[in-house]
Amino acid sequence: MPPRHGGNLVWAAAIAGCTPHEILDFSASLNPWGPSDSVIAALKAVLPTIRDYPDPDCHPLVDALAALHQLPLDYFLVGNGAAELLTWVGRECGDRRQVYLITPAFADYRRALTAFACPIVLIPLGQVQTGFGAIAPFLTPKDAILINNPHNPSGHLWSRHQLQPLLETGALVVVDEAFMDFLPPSASESLIDVVPHYPNLIVLRSLTKFYSLAGLRLGYGVSAPERWQRWRSWRDPWSVNSLAIIAGVTALGDRPFQERTWAWLPPARHAFAAALKAVPELKVVTESKANFLLIQATDSILPLQTYLLRQHRILIRDCCSFPELGAAYFRVAVRRDGENQRLLEGLRAYYQRQ
Ligand SMILES: Cc1ncc(COP(=O)(O)O)c(C=O)c1O
Repeated sequence: MPPRHGGNLVWAAAIAGCTPHEILDFSASLNPWGPSDSVIAALKAVLPTIRDYPDPDCHPLVDALAALHQLPLDYFLVGNGAAELLTWVGRECGDRRQVYLITPAFADYRRALTAFACPIVLIPLGQVQTGFGAIAPFLTPKDAILINNPHNPSGHLWSRHQLQPLLETGALVVVDEAFMDFLPPSASESLIDVVPHYPNLIVLRSLTKFYSLAGLRLGYGVSAPERWQRWRSWRDPWSVNSLAIIAGVTALGDRPFQERTWAWLPPARHAFAAALKAVPELKVVTESKANFLLIQATDSILPLQTYLLRQHRILIRDCCSFPELGAAYFRVAVRRDGENQRLLEGLRAYYQRQ
């Protein structure tokens, strides 16, 4: 079975006939500069502490998050990746009248919402791309809406101003900002700072993408403290391990790593998109503000995906798990220049054979 998520290197390696670490992975949108040296060093230093149970309240990490976002400690809940917190979003939404979901949507949203039998209403991205003014009048405090900003897989970014009408409806507004930290603070459209004014708002963040800690699993939520008390009573007490807590504290404190990523991404994304646009069979779909690009091909890309794996050991993310897009679309992470060049060579070679 093809995987529902990017980054499944074991599946890819079986097709490519190599080991998982030999695959050049464009399918998971991870920062190619991480994990940072500081995180690796911190992990090595604390390795012996795995004997002990982790702190269920993730204290040093919550302290760092509170300092970063200038909010009280009890506004934060750390999770085993944003994916764990999405499960509890599903539970929170289980008794809602309707849960609005913008499509195409990250596949895990459906997993979490259907696990708790949430009544899902789909809204195509095109209907809300310029704002939520037309949708907001339909929302009541009995409803919920789940938004991904910047949006995966398109990279579309909504401004805070565009999201504002939703907050006023009283509906539960969940904003998954898993890729927001790829924007520098001056360009961020995060809603974290308004959380104290809106008890109906949940903001989710991931530390696995920007800091390349996908195997360690780490994310957090920002919302009203009463909500977190409820979620704590639902989840297992040690879902976040002690290595992840230390990695998170170290990563958040590594300003040079953050600044290097912010300086690298916009020109790298621009150059990569321009080179992809020059391949006549491909169209870069939207202007992405994140670290990935959505691409439309003239035909199904599944043979291309297999070719790239077998001939070049490169994995791209097909969009079959996004029903609104399907097999003619694929998504690629922006990686280091030499790696992007390898993919471009593979793409050109494939289309020249046609
Ligand atoms: C939009 C979005 N939200 C959340 C996640 C999950 O992130 P994490 O690795 O922190 O569980 C992903 C992972 O691909 C994602 O694309």
